[in-house]
Amino acid sequence: MTAIPIPHPTESKDSVRALYWQEGLLRVLDQRQLPGTLHYDDCATVGAVAEAIATMRVRGAPAIGIAAAYGVVLAAIARYAAAPATWKTAIETDLDTLARSRPTAVNLFWALERMRGLIQGLAGDPVPALLEAARAIHTDDVAANRRMGELGADLLAGATGVLTHCNTGSLATGGYGTALGVIRSAHRRGLGKVFASETRPWLQGSRLTVWELEQDGIPARLVADSAAAYLMKSGQVQWVIVGADRIAANGDTANKIGTYALAVTARHHGVKFMVAAPVSTIDWRTESGAGIEIEERDPRELLNPYFLREDSIISAWNPVFDVTPASLIDAIVTEHGVVLNPGPASMRALRDAIDGG
Ligand code: MRU
Repeated sequence: MTAIPIPHPTESKDSVRALYWQEGLLRVLDQRQLPGTLHYDDCATVGAVAEAIATMRVRGAPAIGIAAAYGVVLAAIARYAAAPATWKTAIETDLDTLARSRPTAVNLFWALERMRGLIQGLAGDPVPALLEAARAIHTDDVAANRRMGELGADLLAGATGVLTHCNTGSLATGGYGTALGVIRSAHRRGLGKVFASETRPWLQGSRLTVWELEQDGIPARLVADSAAAYLMKSGQVQWVIVGADRIAANGDTANKIGTYALAVTARHHGVKFMVAAPVSTIDWRTESGAGIEIEERDPRELLNPYFLREDSIISAWNPVFDVTPASLIDAIVTEHGVVLNPGPASMRALRDAIDGG
């Protein structure tokens, strides 16, 4: 494992990269060490990629999908070299390994399905075509985020302050970000205040979002998760903007634990609630949020180190996502358009628009 400097894209206001492909390796920024240490791990095997996802080195729904796509490339390099005649059968085990890394973010399964579909039709050395496909998933994600950024910023016209939750920026995506992409675009248009909630227990808000925005000169103010209701009551924010890990066909949205509480609180205070996500985050096969698997992680992640003593009698429940019903969402912003007041009919209209090209 080597530490290397962050590659800076030429464009300003988006200077962080969660992962990139270089000379037959996937380089993954170890987000567990941020903001103190910038360290990229070299993933040379599909197992290393699956482990990086499961252990939260790389996290955020779109970034997980992109990492998995590159993981398939690494798998193909090894499987084709070992057995050119039977690699297509052998690689199924690797696709399963990646699929088991985390359960909620549907972008993971979307990316694997896309790569699997391509594998069926390949003949000869599969690596160039698979690498091209993984790169396309990566660059398409950035383009989608930029489009969402503009569409979401249109909705914010007149807003002076927003609150966001978790990390949905370049660290969570191919680049630019979903909810944070909207905030980036709105900042360029003069948006005043950005508040970020700390996002216990992994602290994606305080360790990642505030740091990422600082890299790009966008001032953000951290608040404790428990300060959200008081913040809304103070009148300083007109919108809550979040990303998504999986959106059901009726618009119900699974996102970082605490999102549901923010949506309930926002409705009470007359604050608008926006979800920004690429269409790769929509799971059309799942009718409603009730069908979404919610990841539960090791309770020790939730416990204060004080409670981790041998004689500790504290137990904990650690669901890391929750589902916000569509009825509490004012707008779902995708790269294919905005769904206002999402529900089965308006989501179907989005799907028709996508299918119609
Ligand atoms: O557990 P994480 O850090 O992977 O959770 C990430 C989130 O919940 C994000 O809000 C979501 O993936 C949207 S990211 C663009």
